[in-house]
Amino acid sequence: MSIDFYWRLPTHGCHNSLHTSGYERGDWSPLKPGNIAPGLGRDGEPDGFTYIDHLAEIAKAAESVGFLGGLIPSFPNTDDPWVIAPLLARETRSFRFMIAFQPGFGNPVHTARMAASLQRATGGRLLFNIITGGGGPAQLWWGDSFAHDDRYGRTSEFLDIFRDVWDSPNVSYDGRFYQLRGGGLPPLLRREEFPEIWFSGSSDAALRTSARHADYYLSWLEPFDQLGDKFARVKERTAALGREQKCAVRVDLVARATEEEAWRDIRIGFENVSEETRQRWRGQPTDSVGASRQAALRPTDARRYDDLIVAPNLWGGFNLLRGGPALGIVGSYEQCAARLDDLIARGADAFILAGTPHLEEAWRIGEEVLPLLGRQARTLLAAAE
Ligand SMILES: Cc1cc2nc3c(=O)[nH]c(=O)nc-3n(C[C@H](O)[C@H](O)[C@H](O)COP(=O)(O)O)c2cc1C
Repeated sequence: MSIDFYWRLPTHGCHNSLHTSGYERGDWSPLKPGNIAPGLGRDGEPDGFTYIDHLAEIAKAAESVGFLGGLIPSFPNTDDPWVIAPLLARETRSFRFMIAFQPGFGNPVHTARMAASLQRATGGRLLFNIITGGGGPAQLWWGDSFAHDDRYGRTSEFLDIFRDVWDSPNVSYDGRFYQLRGGGLPPLLRREEFPEIWFSGSSDAALRTSARHADYYLSWLEPFDQLGDKFARVKERTAALGREQKCAVRVDLVARATEEEAWRDIRIGFENVSEETRQRWRGQPTDSVGASRQAALRPTDARRYDDLIVAPNLWGGFNLLRGGPALGIVGSYEQCAARLDDLIARGADAFILAGTPHLEEAWRIGEEVLPLLGRQARTLLAAAE
C-alpha cells in the first residue's frame, strides 16, 4: 500500500521562524529589509521578487524531495488558488495542485469547465479540497448566509452536477439549489481525467456528503484514537453506499534531530506569542464542528507551553504560532515518523504535511522524516518474529 504525501503551499503568508510571529515571508505585514519574497532592496525599493515566486520555490523544493503535490488553501486573506495553481504548474514538472474551494461560491458547470481546462493545460495535475465553510462572520465576508447543513446540501448538489457534466454532454438536474437543462462539457474537455476530490469538515453533514462524493476524507489532526474512530466511521459509511473512500490527515510538524531541540523551538515560539495573537484566536464565532474541536483544547488560555502537550509528541498550541488548527506533531525525526506510522495504523492513507518556514521545512521533512516511515512497522514485525 502506498501512502501519498502532500505539502502545504502557504498562500496565507509564512513566518521565517517558529520563534517569532511576524510574517517575514510575503507581504502580509509592511515590507521591511530582511523580508523574503517580496522584500526590499538596498535602497528600500521592492526587490521585484514576488510572493508567487516564493511559492514556486516552495513547490519546487517539495517536488524535489518527493511530495506528490501541494494544498493551496483559500481564505479571505489569501490569493485565489485557481489563479495560483496554473502559475505554479508552469514552474514544476509533476507536482500536483490541490485547489481548496467552497462550491457554493461558483456555478457547477462553469467550475467543471475551469477544472477540465486546467487538467488539459497541466497534464492532469489538478485535484480539489472541497470545503464548505465555517459559518459566522467569515462566511458572511463572502456574502454567504446559508445555514450549516444547507451549505452541505448545496455542496452535495454542486458535486452531483460537477461530475455529471463531465460524464455526459446532456445533463438536466432538478435540485433544491441548482436547476440545469442540457448542460455538459464539450468533448475536448470531457476526455480529461476527472480530478480527485478531497473533502474537509467534521460535522455529520460533512461526513455524509463526503461519503457520497469524495475520494479522500481529509481531517485536521485530532487525538489519535478519536481520529482513528472517525476514519473507521467514514470508511464504514462510504462502504454502506457501495463506494470506497480513503482518509487523510492535514498536520503541522516540528521535527528536529532530537526531541529536546524540537520542544525548545516550541517553547521559544510559545513564549513569544503576544497577547494580541491570543486575543485573535480566542472565541472566533463559527458553526464548524471541526474548528470547535480544535478550540476546545483552549490553547489561548495556556500559560506554559507544556500545558498544551496532549499526548507524547502531540502539541495543542500550533494555532498560536502560525494560525490554523491547534494540534500538531513535535519530536525527533524518528518520533515524527513513528507518529505518522501510528496514524497510518489508524487508517490514514495520505497526508498533507506542513512546517514553518515552508521552504526549509519541505526539504527537512522530505529528507529527514519521510525516509524513516515504515520503520516502526518493520520494527514491530521483527519483534513479533
Ligand atoms: C484539512 C482542512 C482544510 C481546510 N481548509 C480550509 C480552507 O482552505 N479554507 C476555508 O475557508 N476553510 C477550510 N477548512 C474548514 C472548512 O471550511 C470546513 O468545511 C469547515 O470546518 C466545516 O465545518 P464542520 O467541521 O462543521 O463540517 C478546512 C478544514 C479542514 C479540516
